[in-house]
Amino acid sequence: MARPFYLTTPIYYVNDVPHIGHAYTTIVVDALSRWHRLLGDDVFFLTGTDEHGLKIVRAAEANGVSPLEQADRTSERFKQAWRQLDIRYDDFIRTTEPRHAAAVGALLQAIYDNGHIELDSYEGLYCVACEAYYLESDLVDGLCPVHRRPVEVFKEENYFFRLSRFQRPLLEWLDAHPEAIRPEAKRNEALGLIRGGLSDISISRTSISWGVPVPWDEGHVFYVWYDALVNYATAIGYGDDPERFERWWPAVHHVIGKDILRFHCVYWPAMLLAAGLAPPFRIQVHGYLLVSGEKMSKTAFNHIAPADLVADFGVDGTRYHFLRDIPLGADGDFSYEGMVARFNADLANNLGNLVSRVATVVGKKCGGTGPAPASDSPLAAVAADAYRDAADAWERMATHEALDATWRLVREANAHLEANEPWKAEPGPAVDAVLGSTLEVLRIIAVMASPAIPVACAELWRRLGLDGRPDEQRLPEAARWGGYPGGLPVDKGPPLFPRLQPA
Ligand code: MSP
Repeated sequence: MARPFYLTTPIYYVNDVPHIGHAYTTIVVDALSRWHRLLGDDVFFLTGTDEHGLKIVRAAEANGVSPLEQADRTSERFKQAWRQLDIRYDDFIRTTEPRHAAAVGALLQAIYDNGHIELDSYEGLYCVACEAYYLESDLVDGLCPVHRRPVEVFKEENYFFRLSRFQRPLLEWLDAHPEAIRPEAKRNEALGLIRGGLSDISISRTSISWGVPVPWDEGHVFYVWYDALVNYATAIGYGDDPERFERWWPAVHHVIGKDILRFHCVYWPAMLLAAGLAPPFRIQVHGYLLVSGEKMSKTAFNHIAPADLVADFGVDGTRYHFLRDIPLGADGDFSYEGMVARFNADLANNLGNLVSRVATVVGKKCGGTGPAPASDSPLAAVAADAYRDAADAWERMATHEALDATWRLVREANAHLEANEPWKAEPGPAVDAVLGSTLEVLRIIAVMASPAIPVACAELWRRLGLDGRPDEQRLPEAARWGGYPGGLPVDKGPPLFPRLQPA
């Protein structure tokens, strides 16, 4: 049976409309899920919106709507953004859905029944933007260390999750699964948090009602983070369809930004252990997409909407830039100039030119019908190496390396054309071999690059006269030399990626 491969993005808060920081995570997960579908894995790709908590209540008040209206509108905006970016998720979860309240109730009830949740009172400094308590010593100049805004004093009688009991189990988990948190630096950060000592955490609120009710005490709602994390279990049937849940859990790959490491790498695995479940298979942490050196946020007024980039660079140009230019794990500074340069170099010049040159010469020398590839072409070995390296990089979620390896093949195919100059030669077997082999490279590229640039790859596949679609192919077979049969009409068409004027 196909390997279950469960991929998630964080669920996004609905106080804020989507910006390219959200898009970055979602594009990475979409590309990974497309690659794994090509491998024949049984992929389940989950994204969605995080709709409870004080932050949403306050945003709704500011907009003069109810929290649910705020959530309805903004979750629609996220869906729309994902349509614009050709994101192919399998499920979009909203935490206000009844299925989610049921799963949250069931999972936290299990933790409660296991004796790891107790009532206590709490007074602390709260940042509403973070939806988190801080210690006096966490503050910077008396302000929230993340948002640089004043914190508020909150006092409540809350249910506490006895996180302090889970130091050892968490360390044992990370010891037994050294690859569970990646990259290594982030694993070390999580280890540092755990070794530094864990305090019990307050998981319920009585001060607001916009949340999932605590099943054993209706006066309380769960604090938004403990409702939110459970979304990953809700979507695969926790508490509702045990068979389905067991198929996907714990084969999960959570992809998250570094801002929410503590919740995913400490609290969530501890909650799962407390409920008698296995911690996640993998948590992949990535850096921030920065605008002029700063993280994008509502409070910093430095939003860039995904639609703005799609208007200038197209779906593929936008996706390609995020996947190619930001090594997963590191921070990356967004720059319009950098994006134009990357688009022109890799898409317009390298891939776009290769496609139009081959199609033009096939038109002139072969009457528009593509010849079959040569079995002994030097490009065959280049393609095999590129596939091996790209596959290895996708497996490590190193999208920039995967695309670098893929584009090596594009560059080599261009160099092969230049070295042989089929446009100058008389039609015949030598010209056919060069052109057929380049068409074969384009067929392989159309499959290998499809997780990053799905629209152009589908069009390229069509122009090559091939049946079906590149995203229906299976790897590694589809990357094997000799798949292009020859004898198919090659359609030249307009430039795949018209060059952009540098700003
Ligand atoms: N709702 C919580 C997550 C709950 S998951 C159970 C949350 N939401 S958020 O809307 O603030 O989005 C957080 C995620 O969006 C980050 O972890 C990250 O993946 C992505 N990003 C938001 N801004 C980003 C950048 N500027 N750069 C990169 N990713 C960013 O936290």
